[in-house]
Amino acid sequence: MAAENKSLADDNYRYLKSFEVFLERSSEHQCMNKFVCETLPDILNTVGAGKSTLKVLGLGSGTGDIDLEILTQLHAKHPEARVENEVVEPSEDMLYKYKDLVSKTPGLDLITFKWNKMTASEFESDWKQRNTDKLKFDFIHMIQMLYYVKDPEATVSFFRSLLHKDGRLLIILASGQSGFSKLWKTFQAQLCKPDITQSLTVSDVKDMLDTKGIPYQSYILPSQMDITDCFTAGDEKGELLLDFMTEILEFRKNASPELKAGVLELLKHPECSREVDGRVIFNNNLEALVITP
Ligand SMILES: C[S@@+](CC[C@H](N)C(=O)[O-])C[C@H]1O[C@@H](n2cnc3c(N)ncnc32)[C@H](O)[C@@H]1O
Repeated sequence: MAAENKSLADDNYRYLKSFEVFLERSSEHQCMNKFVCETLPDILNTVGAGKSTLKVLGLGSGTGDIDLEILTQLHAKHPEARVENEVVEPSEDMLYKYKDLVSKTPGLDLITFKWNKMTASEFESDWKQRNTDKLKFDFIHMIQMLYYVKDPEATVSFFRSLLHKDGRLLIILASGQSGFSKLWKTFQAQLCKPDITQSLTVSDVKDMLDTKGIPYQSYILPSQMDITDCFTAGDEKGELLLDFMTEILEFRKNASPELKAGVLELLKHPECSREVDGRVIFNNNLEALVITP
C-alpha cells in the first residue's frame, strides 16, 4: 500500500459506515443467510451430538447478524443444549451493534455471550495464557475476517487445533473468481497493507489446505453488488463503497490519480462487473469452506 494512503481498517467508525453501505448495496448477507439456513443445518448434524453445553467461537463477528443466524440453526439442532458463544471482534463500534442486536432478539435464553474486544491474534495469545484445561470448541467461524490477519495459514491452523473431535471450522471469504479477487490481485502492491493479507481469497486458503493435506468441503455463495454510485464523484455512499472495496480511507481524495483511474476502470471491466439496465453490477461471489479437526 502506498505510504500516503491510510487504511480504512485503521478508522473503525468509517469502516463500519462503509461496511453498512456495502451490506445495503450487495446481497452479501442474503447469500450468507441462505447458506446458513439451507446448507449449514446438515453440516451441524454431527456437531455437538449428545452434549449439554456447546461452545461456539466467532472471529471477526462484526455486527453479529450472521452469528445469530448460525446460533439459531445450532439451537434448532440441539434445543435442550446451552450454548456458550465467544465473540472476538476488535471494533468497539461493531461490538456495540452486536450487543444491541442481542438485546433485541428473542429466543436467546439458552445462549450466553462472552465479549472479547480484540483481534484474532490477541485472542490466540490470551487463550494460550488463560486456557490450561484444553477446552475445545464445537463450532468456530471466520466470516470475511481472514484478510486482516498477518499469517492466515498459522491462524487457520491454530483455531483448527481448538476444535472438539466432532467440531467444524467455517471460513467464508471472497471467491477466487470474484471481482474482489481480480481487484485485489491486480492492485495488491498499492492497496494491501504490508502486514496483513488483504488480497486473500478462498482459492489461496484451498491451496494452503491442499498443501497440508487437510480435507475440506467447499460451497459457492453467488452474490452481487450494485457499484454504480462509485463512478459519481462526491456521491456519499459511492465514496464509502469505494473505501470499503479498496480498504483505503477516503480513496477518491487520497489515492494517486493513476491508482484512481486504474481502479475505476477495472471495476467496470467484464472480469469484475456486468452492466444491467444501466447499472454496474459487481461480482461479489463468496465461497465457504468447512474444515474438520
Ligand atoms: C467484513 S467485516 C465481516 C463481519 C461479519 N463477519 C460479517 O460477515 O458480517 C470484517 C470484520 O473483521 C473484524 N476484524 C478486523 N481485523 C480483525 C482481526 N485482526 N481479528 C479479528 N477480527 C478482525 C472487523 O472489525 C470486522 O468486524
